[in-house]
This record gives sequence, structure tokens and C-alpha cells, in this order.
Amino acid sequence: MSKRILITGATDGIGKAFAKYMASKGHHVIIHGRNREKVKDSALEIIKKTKNKKIDTIVADFASLTEVQSMSKSLLGKYNFLDILINNAAVIAPEYIESVDKIELTFQVNYLSPFLLTLNVLPLLKSKQRSQIINIASIAHAETINFNTILDPEFFDSYSAYEISKLCNILFTYKLAKKLQNKKITVNCLHPGVISTKLLHVLWSGGAPVKNAVEAIKNVMIQAEKNFETGKFFAGKSLVLSSAISYDENTQQKIWDFSMNLLKLKGIIPGNF
Ligand SMILES: NC(=O)c1ccc[n+]([C@@H]2O[C@H](COP(=O)([O-])OP(=O)(O)OC[C@H]3O[C@@H](n4cnc5c(N)ncnc54)[C@H](OP(=O)(O)O)[C@@H]3O)[C@@H](O)[C@H]2O)c1
Repeated sequence: MSKRILITGATDGIGKAFAKYMASKGHHVIIHGRNREKVKDSALEIIKKTKNKKIDTIVADFASLTEVQSMSKSLLGKYNFLDILINNAAVIAPEYIESVDKIELTFQVNYLSPFLLTLNVLPLLKSKQRSQIINIASIAHAETINFNTILDPEFFDSYSAYEISKLCNILFTYKLAKKLQNKKITVNCLHPGVISTKLLHVLWSGGAPVKNAVEAIKNVMIQAEKNFETGKFFAGKSLVLSSAISYDENTQQKIWDFSMNLLKLKGIIPGNF
């Protein structure tokens, strides 16, 4: 049966490869990106390759909370359901950069904006009998988190900021999975593998082909659909454990409150919570 799937950061790397795969299977794919031209080109390329015309596009720079709010409003206005949300968009900022909201870029793009988007579009996921959220995290996630310094420029380090953002993806996954336990929405996260993309090449080289990541995401989708797995972390095709701190309920609550307070400070109350 055809599903409607929103993939953030579907203009390059893993997100684009997965959008292509889902389109090739006849699903309705909503391609998100930050660059209007690149979003349009990606959609045209996918339509041409897959002959699937059920491809929509949406543009929002995750470095702007206002753009995430507009994106959410457009989605809620245009669609009455979503089967799958894949939070995939991410960056590794090579140096300390502030978003337009004056928040460190990696934290905002990789974690805070997806947090806001997800809470905003929950009504679309709730309107289905079964739906799922997949957060693309990483095996490269932090083992500790200091809430006093995560956004402090003095403590900035490119790799640590990325690791922290990926830990936040996992903490959010576990917390949301618990909150949604009876609502038939599964929430899982995964490490897609070490994949040759421009994000990887900011700090490293090499990497496996994107098709490996496509297989890994497909596996999570199937595990959630068939076995109703939720609140889990996968690496490649295996169910694995994430860092000990990611299971700490106090830390899960703390990052939730930290995010809510930060959004409130910027005048934003996410939908539904
Ligand atoms: N590659 C790996 O080895 C690896 C390993 C573990 C986890 N991951 C995770 O896999 C996911 C996909 O990464 P990738 O490796 O495929 O990277 P990628 O090829 O660089 O793709 C990243 C996507 O995110 C989008 N994006 C970046 N900044 C954005 C912003 N400000 N607003 C909106 N969208 C933005 C990019 O848009 P543009 O096309 O405009 O740049 C692109 O579509 C990420 O969550 C990453 O953390 C990757």
C-alpha cells in the first residue's frame, strides 16, 4: 500500500537516496531541503528516474525556527495524514556558527529544529492507524552532556557539537516513544553506517555507498511495521544499545525541558504539547 513519507534533508546523501528508493516503490514522497533550487532539481531527478509523479517538495532552512514553523504550517494545511516522518537533515559545522535564532548551528539544525517539526506535525501522524518516526542519529553520539555548556561558544568543538546533537536525537527518540506508547506511533533511531557523503567528509574520508544506509532505514521501517518496535536504536541492520546516558530518564526529561524552554524564549510553543 502506498505510504506518504516526509524525508528531511532529501536533497543529498542518505536522505536523497532513501527518497529515490521510496519513490521507486510507488510511495508519495515529500522532499524537504533548505535550498529551493536543489529541492526542485532533486524532485525532478527522482521523478525522471522512478517515473513516480507523487513527489512533493517543501523548503525550510533548519537554521531558522521561523522557517520550521512555516514548514509545519504548510504541511498541516496541505495534508491530513503522514505515514512516516524521517528526521534526517544534519550538518557538521566546522566552526562555531550561530543560526538566525542565535543558537549554535549544529544543535539547532540536527536536533532543535527536528524536535520542533516533529511535535508540530504529530497530528498528521496521529491521524493514521499506524505511523512511524525515524530519527537518523549516529553511533558517534556523546556519552555525557553538560547542559550549562552545550551552547556556549567558549566550549565549542566541531565534533563534540555533532556528538551532542546526535545524543539529543536519541534522548528525544526514547522520550517521545514513551509519550506516544498508546498512540500507535513508533519512534526509533538509527546509525545508518559510515556512508560516503558530504557530511562525513567534513571531518573524515571514505565511507560505504548510500545504498547501505537505504537498507538500514528500510530495516527500521520493517521492524517498526511488523514487530511494532519502538524506542529502539539500530546500527546498520542490528538492534544495538546506545550510550548508557541515553537511557537515563532524568537526562531525557532534562533535554526535553531544555528544548521547550529554549523555544519558549524564542516565542515558540510547539504544537500539541
Ligand atoms: N554519512 C555518514 O557516515 C553518517 C553516519 C552517521 C549518521 N549520519 C546521519 O545521516 C543523516 C544524513 O546525513 P548525510 O551523511 O546523508 O549528509 P549530507 O549528504 O550532507 O545530507 C544532509 C542533508 O541535510 C540537509 N541540510 C543541511 N543543513 C540544513 C539546514 N540548515 N536546513 C535544512 N536542511 C539542511 C542537506 O541539504 P543540502 O543538500 O542543501 O546540503 C542535505 O539534504 C544525518 O542525520 C547524519 O547525522 C550520517
